[in-house]
Amino acid sequence: MNLILKPCQTEGFAHGVSTSRNLFDAQGVLLLAKGEVVTIRVLELLKSHQVYILQFESDKTIPPKCFSQERYQNVLASMQDIYQGGNLVTEVKLIATKDVVDGIFDELTKNPRIYFNLNQFRNFDNYTYVHSVNVGLIASLIAINMGYMDEQLKELILGALLHDLGKMTIPTELLNKPTGLTTQEFEILKQHPIRGVELLKEVKISPEVLAGIRQHHERWNGQGYPDGLKSNAIHPYARVIAVADVFDAITADRPYHEGIPLYYALELVEAGSDSDFAPEVVLALRNSLVIYPENSSVKLNTGEIGIVIDIPSNFPTRPLIRILFDKYGNLVQDEIVVDLLRDLTRFISSVDFQ
Ligand SMILES: [Fe+2]
Repeated sequence: MNLILKPCQTEGFAHGVSTSRNLFDAQGVLLLAKGEVVTIRVLELLKSHQVYILQFESDKTIPPKCFSQERYQNVLASMQDIYQGGNLVTEVKLIATKDVVDGIFDELTKNPRIYFNLNQFRNFDNYTYVHSVNVGLIASLIAINMGYMDEQLKELILGALLHDLGKMTIPTELLNKPTGLTTQEFEILKQHPIRGVELLKEVKISPEVLAGIRQHHERWNGQGYPDGLKSNAIHPYARVIAVADVFDAITADRPYHEGIPLYYALELVEAGSDSDFAPEVVLALRNSLVIYPENSSVKLNTGEIGIVIDIPSNFPTRPLIRILFDKYGNLVQDEIVVDLLRDLTRFISSVDFQ
């Protein structure tokens, strides 16, 4: 298992606050030990992105683990509670959501190679809650991969869970409209990031989280909304939430489109790197996703069923598959291995996570 230095995300640090991780410089020299108080010198280095934390390299030797279904269900129930009704969020509801954030934080920071069955609870009625939970989980994975930790990571998870809160004030018919929206309808929809922030005006919540919510539809090239912000003007939380949001949305079945497989969604998001999304966030998405856990059972577009036996680290969307059943459902006697990296006529149409 290799240890590597990863850049440390810095916005949450302040002079006089103690750190929960060992912090290093680019040469691996310890700058500040866990539990020590952040000094002015370290703070300056942090600001110029010259501080690193030590992590296991992709933790590839640790077997991936599925995010607990029970925890997912609890998170979903809490989201339903906070999203319900489109009313102003109360302090009690916000505290309940922060408990949810703590639960996600604990599970994800304990399990570096975790994956989610994003489709497990999707249905038409509770799409917004499920989507919010999924975005919270994906954004967390991305953020951990980028070196986010402690309070900053928790803030980002909170922003991701609440990113679409404002949609509760938009008529359902408009949200679920199967065909193209009129210009006027689209203008109404485009208000939801601002409305989400308004729903949180009565509670104590950091401006960083609010920026994450307000700016989650901004795009790297300045073509997003509501403010048309560009590249580094977009808050770092919003850059992460934007990628998680789009990744989950395009994999879900909606009235206006059919969900696409995860590997294809990743390739589409990658195509938007540097135009729609911050490149470092897209890279972190790729590095953090376990799209096809080893030994998971997959169905190919040809109708064949097989198991994943290897995943190329640079192409996680194109694993090596050992075919078990042919397209007629007959057990295959010979050892047939399909390399999806070379055989571009075959692709995975579904994956069984159980
Ligand atoms: Fe949104």
